[in-house]
Amino acid sequence: MSLIFDLQSAGVSFGPVHALADVNLGIGAGESVALVGANGSGKSTLLRLLHGLQRPTAGQCACNGAARQAMLFQRPFMLRTSARNNVALALWLRGTPWQAAKQQALVALERVELADKAGRPARTLSGGQQQRLAMARAWALQPDVLMLDEPTASLDPHAKREVEQLMAEFASGAQRQDGRPVTVIFASHNLGQVKRLATRVIYLEQGRVQADLPVQEFFDIERLRAVSPTAHLFVKGEQV
Ligand SMILES: Nc1ncnc2c1ncn2[C@@H]1O[C@H](COP(=O)(O)OP(=O)(O)O)[C@@H](O)[C@H]1O
Ligand SMILES: [Mg+2]
Repeated sequence: MSLIFDLQSAGVSFGPVHALADVNLGIGAGESVALVGANGSGKSTLLRLLHGLQRPTAGQCACNGAARQAMLFQRPFMLRTSARNNVALALWLRGTPWQAAKQQALVALERVELADKAGRPARTLSGGQQQRLAMARAWALQPDVLMLDEPTASLDPHAKREVEQLMAEFASGAQRQDGRPVTVIFASHNLGQVKRLATRVIYLEQGRVQADLPVQEFFDIERLRAVSPTAHLFVKGEQV
């Protein structure tokens, strides 16, 4: 399996705070990786590092190949224009001519069942709709890697299910014209969601990787206890 990301002793420090320390990990194409851990454990910093929004202050973080990446945040970032333009502008910025971008934006909106909201100012949509709009924007860009930072944390159960469904379709490759699976890396506080969507789980504690296991092993409580007692406590209590 070819590695898309290869981190060697990677660290990120903010002054005296070690947000990430000595992280060694490789992520291959088509994996669906969940990042879990308490608040402040380094999940967002790791996503930002992988997405190139943050440089390592120690070690190396290699992103191999010309992987196209998209990232979604807990609170979607929307420009002060229509839903359709929010998608079209993202395409236009990547070089798609404006008329084609407008057309592709509509297809993407249909994909997430927001075509009827195409002309609405994006910022007037509900939280769940905005997150689906963010998914449409990512989908339109046909990324090889999709990163999501607690994408459903502020959504109600119904909206959460809809976004999860789209994440699953992303991971399966159903959204790609070439059908290739997308590498999905997401931070989540929701262990049910992790179980449903991840093939691999990385547990972080104070910026360090304490467990890195296939999803079945992570949720095998005896196996997890043997690998990391604190990860085991985290899963048992959902929160330490
Ligand atoms: N820009 C920043 N400046 C200073 N400290 C930061 C910054 N970003 C994150 N941190 C610190 O790094 C640690 C990890 O944060 P973060 O990656 O956001 O964790 P998580 O996403 O798991 O909650 C925390 O102690 C946080 O306060
Ligand atoms: Mg975070």
